[in-house]
Amino acid sequence: MNILHIDCSPRPESHSRDLSAAIVSHLSVTDPDASVIRRDLGRYPLPHAESDYATVLSSPGTLAEGVSKGALGLSEQLIQEVEAADVLVIGTPMNNFTVPSVLKAWIDQILRMGRTIGVSPHGEKFGLLQDKPVYVGIASGGVFTGDRARQPDFLIPYLTAAFGCVGLNSLHFLPLQATAFLGHDELAANRDVLLATLPAAREAVGAAALRQ
Ligand SMILES: Cc1cc2nc3c(=O)[nH]c(=O)nc-3n(C[C@H](O)[C@H](O)[C@H](O)COP(=O)(O)O)c2cc1C
Repeated sequence: MNILHIDCSPRPESHSRDLSAAIVSHLSVTDPDASVIRRDLGRYPLPHAESDYATVLSSPGTLAEGVSKGALGLSEQLIQEVEAADVLVIGTPMNNFTVPSVLKAWIDQILRMGRTIGVSPHGEKFGLLQDKPVYVGIASGGVFTGDRARQPDFLIPYLTAAFGCVGLNSLHFLPLQATAFLGHDELAANRDVLLATLPAAREAVGAAALRQ
């Protein structure tokens, strides 16, 4: 099993890093030979879409030329990391109701027309990647999901749409909420509750991915 392990927090000691590491450990227990590819976007952010990349993505004609110009090199490398993985594990904070910009910059390289997104003759988009499980550990200072939500959630719907667009539909979210308010023990207990959902989630998302 190849695991692509992505972290997005700029903080070395972070709740979302802790959560993603625990998910990777959980997956590795049942498969001790699992290999891990690391993308630490929090520590080593990608550049935002640069001029050449934005230009080749601006029309079907320039997109075809871009392959020879090498403007798609970073995008190609990142897409191949996703393709080489059997499972994706992402640790991310919620920033201003959605994903942090470092994760958005990664997504901007992964969602690419003609490579990871196809278009039918009628103009409908469909994903070109093989489905696989994607586990997302989220840390948020406040509460954005469930009965006690006090703020909008543009994170889970956004990631669901973005990954779905390329064919990754087997997502499982683990939101560790209220990190700004809860004490260490309460957060540790909530984290354990989230991690306890993994065995059932593995069956559900794994089976869904296999059906694709
Ligand atoms: C720029 C910024 C924006 C944030 N926006 C939100 C937000 O919209 N909602 C929320 O609940 N917490 C927000 N937070 C708090 C973080 O989600 C929280 O501190 C989280 O635990 C950070 O993740 P980490 O522990 O993995 O670093 C924000 C933090 C920062 C730095």
